Amino acid sequence: MFRISYLLISILFSTSLIAGPEDWRIALCISDDPQHQMNVSWRTMMELDNPQVQLAINSPLVKFYKDHRDFIADVEAVVLSDSSVVFAYSSEMKNLTPGTAYAYRVGSKEKWSEWFVFETAKINDDSFRFLFFGDPQNGLISHVPRAFREGYKEAPDAAFLALAGDLVSVPGIDQQWEDLFHAGSWIFGQIPLVPVMGNHSYYINGKWLDHYSPYWRPHFTLPENGLATLPETNYSFRYQGLLFVVLNGSEQLEEQAVWLDELLGQTESKWVILSMHQPLYSTGQGRDGAKRRAALLSVIDKYEVDLVLQGHDHTFGRTFPLRNGQRVKGRQKGTVYINSVSGSKQYKLEPAVKDVFAVTDADKQFYHVVNVQPSKLTVMSYTVDGELKDEIIIKPSNMR
Ligand SMILES: [Fe+2]
Ligand SMILES: [Fe+2]
Repeated sequence: MFRISYLLISILFSTSLIAGPEDWRIALCISDDPQHQMNVSWRTMMELDNPQVQLAINSPLVKFYKDHRDFIADVEAVVLSDSSVVFAYSSEMKNLTPGTAYAYRVGSKEKWSEWFVFETAKINDDSFRFLFFGDPQNGLISHVPRAFREGYKEAPDAAFLALAGDLVSVPGIDQQWEDLFHAGSWIFGQIPLVPVMGNHSYYINGKWLDHYSPYWRPHFTLPENGLATLPETNYSFRYQGLLFVVLNGSEQLEEQAVWLDELLGQTESKWVILSMHQPLYSTGQGRDGAKRRAALLSVIDKYEVDLVLQGHDHTFGRTFPLRNGQRVKGRQKGTVYINSVSGSKQYKLEPAVKDVFAVTDADKQFYHVVNVQPSKLTVMSYTVDGELKDEIIIKPSNMR
């Protein structure tokens, strides 16, 4: 009897049923108006009563939250592959003041997370920087934490954190998401995430799907200003002089090219950066992005996109400025493409890419800091030991 009770108690206390806020997968997410709005997602095993977000202007006062605002959270019951049910929450913190530091926490009256601090985008086009990582995907417990932590050490003031897809390897295995959020830890609650959909979001229960898995959207609250058929995977936002565009590289590329053409035709932003999981120019041995180039290259060249951030090839590469697949000559404007990886899975380098890639590397984990200034973009590529592997300065297009 004692043994059975002991077993029961052990099971109850060892599962996530009683997991606290440290296991809530709190993700601060970019909105389509980061001057005035930030989004947040989190999830629990037991449904919270009256889930909400509290937000206050950050200050050193212990009672900084005295005049806090409340935001109701939407809740969705998510059925996992093992038929268990968890609860995913999503909230939009709206009507914020630009260039202001806020503290927020998520939960309900019974249980709250810690207070996380973030800043809204400024109203002017001041300089800022952001972090970029290629596929985490593998080694989420063993290898990825050092990549996120080193990146954070290099740029703790990063305005946002872009992740170029394949966040986990098998999205139907819930433990992999748990591991990803372990790797990101409180950094994911503090720096707004800009996650990009990877092809592995289409892999579930041993099969490749035509449309992305149901485990993407409950983890994030992202802009839905792209194609209505690709919610939270095709979107854009403006941040102090930059238009950042996220494409879903796995489906509806031609439709997204039309959407992109219209978006870039209207933009008044000085800089345009695109992120898509699958690269237009491959660094992985035997791989090629011909299909992507056919769909997107003419639009990228037409608007002289400054930088394209990609993953998928599990190697590192940074191209020369390119136009129509060729190195540009003289002072002609070209687009720089970067392929990267932050996790432990590594591919062999494709040797036949030397004509377009200025630098390549393999068998290493990387992170990148992009400095956005009115007169130039600077991309610094670091290996996870903090060594600067590559730095490129990009001049603006005369079109903008
Ligand atoms: Fe991939
Ligand atoms: Fe991958």
